[in-house]
Amino acid sequence: MSDPQFVFLNDAFVPLDEARVPVLDRGFIFGDGIYEVVPVYGGRPFRIAEHLARLERSLAKVRIANPRDAAGWTHLIEQLVQRHPWPDQVVYLQVTRGVARRDHAFPEGVAPTVFAMSNPFVHVPPAVRARGIAVVTLPDERWLHCDIKSTSLLGNVLARQAAVDAGAAECVMFRNGFMTEGSASNIWVVRDGRVLGAPRDHLVLEGIRVGLMEALCAACGLPLEFRNITREEVFAADELLSTSATKEVLPITSIDGRPVDTGVPGPIYARLYAAYQEAKSA
Ligand code: PDD
Repeated sequence: MSDPQFVFLNDAFVPLDEARVPVLDRGFIFGDGIYEVVPVYGGRPFRIAEHLARLERSLAKVRIANPRDAAGWTHLIEQLVQRHPWPDQVVYLQVTRGVARRDHAFPEGVAPTVFAMSNPFVHVPPAVRARGIAVVTLPDERWLHCDIKSTSLLGNVLARQAAVDAGAAECVMFRNGFMTEGSASNIWVVRDGRVLGAPRDHLVLEGIRVGLMEALCAACGLPLEFRNITREEVFAADELLSTSATKEVLPITSIDGRPVDTGVPGPIYARLYAAYQEAKSA
């Protein structure tokens, strides 16, 4: 890339290589921060209002004052996107509690650190879409506030690495016998023409694609239900799907080394993927 990549840090755009955060930033010391990942298609952020509403909710839950209102964030994202030539981008936003001497309790009078960057959207290769991805099942060992989009992601990082170590792309986690989600995606079970998702509670991050799946299923005439899903139901699925900002909707065709149904992406995946592509260009 000839042009430098610019990032936004606190109050200015700076080249990525020059962006520096003090070592006492609580994001660095405690993982005391919140983030968002917003896909951008053809220069237009997708479901921006929903992403900014989730950012607001996550910040409120950890009691960090939101440094910008929705219009302010939207403006910042637009400026960042316009600085880069890629038609499709992934914008990363992060707000930490700021820089202060190390003490677990909140510091007083400290401004949050604001960081934003954009990268090219790396689309899932068609060959991967055609064969689907492999997952492994894992116990969900994370904390009990998975609804907060926190930068404290050690549980997710260890889960993803366990999947990679097993030759898989993602994991499906279980807590108390019920499916929660993947390390960085929501997971969906398809059985008898119905789509099932985990309850939208504190044990999962409610992906922006969760609301989108509701809309897409409604548009496709597919019944969708959020409820506790057992391990047996996951293994008996006709299809398994994974959704996230960066992967959109992906077919899972193998679980713990066994094929999901016949081991090829299914018809409901194909319908939802097509509906997703339509929603992007709407
Ligand atoms: N992760 N669950 C977890 C734990 C996630 O980290 C993500 C997204 C999702 C899906 O959310 P959404 O549909 O809003 O992308 C569910 C992002 C992409 C990441 O951490 O990079």
